[in-house]
Amino acid sequence: MNIHTYEKAWLVASMLLIVGFIATITYGAVGPGIAMIDDDGGSINPDDINDHEKFSEPGVTHVGGNEYEVAVVAQAWAYMPSEIEVPANSEVTFYVTSRDVTHSFTVVGTNMNTMVIPGQVSQMTVEFDESGEYGILCNEYCGEYHHTMEGKLNVVPEDEFDMTELSVDAPREVQAGNETTITATVTDGMQTDLETTATLEIGDRTIERDVTISGAGSEDVEFAVDTAELGAGDHDWTVTVDDHEESGTLSVVNATDGGDGDA
Ligand code: CUA
Repeated sequence: MNIHTYEKAWLVASMLLIVGFIATITYGAVGPGIAMIDDDGGSINPDDINDHEKFSEPGVTHVGGNEYEVAVVAQAWAYMPSEIEVPANSEVTFYVTSRDVTHSFTVVGTNMNTMVIPGQVSQMTVEFDESGEYGILCNEYCGEYHHTMEGKLNVVPEDEFDMTELSVDAPREVQAGNETTITATVTDGMQTDLETTATLEIGDRTIERDVTISGAGSEDVEFAVDTAELGAGDHDWTVTVDDHEESGTLSVVNATDGGDGDA
C-alpha cells in the first residue's frame, strides 16, 4: 500500500500530538507534586469543635524537626486563627474545618486551595521554601459578609520564628515591708529544649534568671521583690524573655496610709 508522503507526515504529527497530550496530562497530575484534597482528614461533628483536640485551640503546633501542624476553623465570616505564622524551610500540614456552612481556604498566589465543608476536615501538606506573606480568602459564597472573610499567612525567616510565650502573674498592691513575688511563666511551643533568660526590671533593680525549658513544656520563674527596698509608692515593672515583654505597676502601700490596711 502506498501512502502519500504528505499523509505520512500528518499521521506522524498527529501521533506525536496524542503522545504529547498524554505526557502533559500525566506530568500535570503527578509531576509537580500537586495533590487533590481527599478524605484523609476524616470527618468531625461541627458541634464538637470546641472540645476537639485539634480544633478547640486552633493554631500552629510544632510536630518535630521542620514539621508543623496548623488547625484552622472557618466560620461566617472569619478564620480562626486569623493570622498564621510558620517558618521558612518547613513542611506544614493544614487541617481546616467549618463550624457552619461551606467556605474555602484559599491561599492567594499559591496552589493551596480547598473547600471547607462542615463535618469534614480538609487536610493538605505544603512545603514552604522561602519566606513570604500571603492572603487567605474564602471563595465559596457563604453569606452576607462572604467578601470580608479573609486571613493572613506569614512565612517568616527561620531565625525570626518564635513559639515562646510569656505570661506574668504579679500583685497590684502589697504592704510595705512584706515580701512579694512576681512570677513569669515561660512556655516553649517547640518540641526542642529552650534556653533563655528572664529579666525583671523594677525600680532601679534588674534581676536576671537563666531558665531551661524542656520541649513543649513551661517553667515558672519567680522573682522575689523586697518592698522595703523599693519603698512606698507605685513601681513600674517589666518582665522580658527574648522578644516578649509584659509590664505593670506594683503599688507599695504603708499599712498606716490608707486606713484600710489590716497588716
Ligand atoms: Cu466563607 Cu465565603
